[in-house]
Amino acid sequence: MNETIKQLISKAEIDKRVSEIASKIENDYLGEEVVMICVLTGSAVFTADLSRKISKIPVIIEFFSVSSYGLNTESNGIKKTYFETKVPLDNKNIIVIEDIVDTGSTLDCIMNHLKTLNPKSIKICSLLEKTNRRAVKGLDIDYLGFNIGDYFVVGYGIDYANKYRNLSYIGSLEFVE
Ligand code: IMP
Ligand code: MG
Repeated sequence: MNETIKQLISKAEIDKRVSEIASKIENDYLGEEVVMICVLTGSAVFTADLSRKISKIPVIIEFFSVSSYGLNTESNGIKKTYFETKVPLDNKNIIVIEDIVDTGSTLDCIMNHLKTLNPKSIKICSLLEKTNRRAVKGLDIDYLGFNIGDYFVVGYGIDYANKYRNLSYIGSLEFVE
């Protein structure tokens, strides 16, 4: 089976949307500091670009690691988590930075953990969401890049079996004989 990728969102479209989200965050938190929590590994590219477009407010970047996919295109539901941060999160304005919210179970796991840490506020920022597949209710995305259909996507930090994270665009991955 060969893997082919069809472009869904171009580099220019991503850049424009990331700039819009950055301005919105700057305005919403004017006079405040934010802690961006990058959910590894998929959000690393998005977090790097988004954070560098913010200059009006102080930004701290931290990393969480939650994984559940292995070598498949369907989540196996088992989460390996690493939630330690260098900066204590109590009384902080947290923005969780995700690459994709699909069923919502990864984010649910993160939110349940964050709520125990007494932050000042928590918001969710995701580059992509697949609305039709949401299994966990009550997760509102405060800053969203793009709503996509039920594709398996790669690129701009997002992988299939650890490949394609380096693509500058987002494409759908298809398997052909
Ligand atoms: P959820 O827990 O079902 O919401 O899945 C979210 C996580 O699964 C995302 O943070 C991604 O890392 C991964 N994921 C979901 N959909 C895709 C996809 O289309 N391509 C690659 N990874 C995906
Ligand atoms: Mg992820």
